[in-house]
Amino acid sequence: MSFPRRKERPELPARGVVINKDRLLADLNAISRIGLGDHGSVTRLVFSVKELRSRQLLIHLMTQAGLKVHVDRIGNIFGRLECGAGRAAVLAGSHLDSVMHGGKFDGPVGVVGALEAVRTLKENKIALPCPVEAVCFVGEESSRFGFSTLGSSLLAGEVRMKDLANAVDARGARLEDVLAGMGVDRGNLASLRRDPKTVKAYLELHIEQGPVLEAKKKQIGVVTAIAAPTRLRIVFTGQADHSGTTPMEMRRDALVAAAHLIAYVEQAARKNSSMEKGRVVGTVGALKIEPGVINAIPGKAELSVDIRSISGKAKDRVARLVEARAREIAAQRDVAVDILPIRSEEPVALDKGLISLIHKICEEKKISYEIMPSGAGHDAMQMAKITRAGMIFVPSKKGISHSPLEWTDPDEICLGAQILLETMVRAAHEEN
Ligand code: GLV
Ligand code: MN
Ligand code: MN
Repeated sequence: MSFPRRKERPELPARGVVINKDRLLADLNAISRIGLGDHGSVTRLVFSVKELRSRQLLIHLMTQAGLKVHVDRIGNIFGRLECGAGRAAVLAGSHLDSVMHGGKFDGPVGVVGALEAVRTLKENKIALPCPVEAVCFVGEESSRFGFSTLGSSLLAGEVRMKDLANAVDARGARLEDVLAGMGVDRGNLASLRRDPKTVKAYLELHIEQGPVLEAKKKQIGVVTAIAAPTRLRIVFTGQADHSGTTPMEMRRDALVAAAHLIAYVEQAARKNSSMEKGRVVGTVGALKIEPGVINAIPGKAELSVDIRSISGKAKDRVARLVEARAREIAAQRDVAVDILPIRSEEPVALDKGLISLIHKICEEKKISYEIMPSGAGHDAMQMAKITRAGMIFVPSKKGISHSPLEWTDPDEICLGAQILLETMVRAAHEEN
């Protein structure tokens, strides 16, 4: 009697292909040294000389790896491995710009991880059904202009001139003017958009920037959704005057008005945050006072407001409360108030198919994982508007990020890059 032969499990594509950990970590270190400051902090603000140098190094590394390099007008970099001529590509990447005095890992882990994945596929001569690209987006951080995910937003066709109107840096440089200097203006803003037909999927490896994975002793985070921000610049204008001669009841102090609003942002976020209706966070991270001297009443106070939530409704509710309270405070204190919206976005759900693909890979490799949302913003939230997007998190020590104390174990970074490679390969083979 003959038994039907057991159906062989189809061989997984690129099985056994392993990234080069030493090379990945060496490149990550080389990028970390650009913009290195006191106490191990890293500062590479968007369009600064340091940020440009980090992008130049990346172009060099991509060229050295034999990838086809393309840089668009805004500075987004694409290192492409050509396969399956004419097909839509699987993209993976993140950003190299940083916050002021930030860490070494937020962004570069995803860029270098993607580069390592793509060059590993190239040197192992893995034949894929479609091209793969390692990507570096320009200006993901909002630290300079208050405007986040600039490069990926332009790529997704998500920037309108009105969004740029209130994006100004601490020295008064307007983002709109900086872009015009690079030949990006009202007339051609939309031309940076990438045709969605040329993208099959987008994947991003990133540090968690929160405490969950470490606390739960999990190696990988599989991201389900990304919280969105509403950002405002609020300017109180009172009267600058002599601090010795002006009686208390005759003052129009802009900073005291701002102080009341700062306390309210915290209160409103706390009161409107719930597990059922959505966790909300609210932050005033920057404050500019004029004239800013010990012996003058502040005549002008400008503050930044950043409100975020996984629930668009909860976030918008807090934003409305903050705006109403700013007007109330201004009226009570006889100061003027200008509320300048920077950008308001909707929370983004990541692709269910990619979520299950990533956790399936973790299960097959017996790697512990957590399915979780992201409180931080990422380029993936823009890419999700033109393609299927997925994210892989690696743990952050003590959950600290946007700080020189930011740290992820090198082995965990390498594991994340390996999972990224395998996800890219499997996504390339998927029919969609
Ligand atoms: C990016 O790191 C952000 O501000 O969420
Ligand atoms: Mn960041
Ligand atoms: Mn980041």
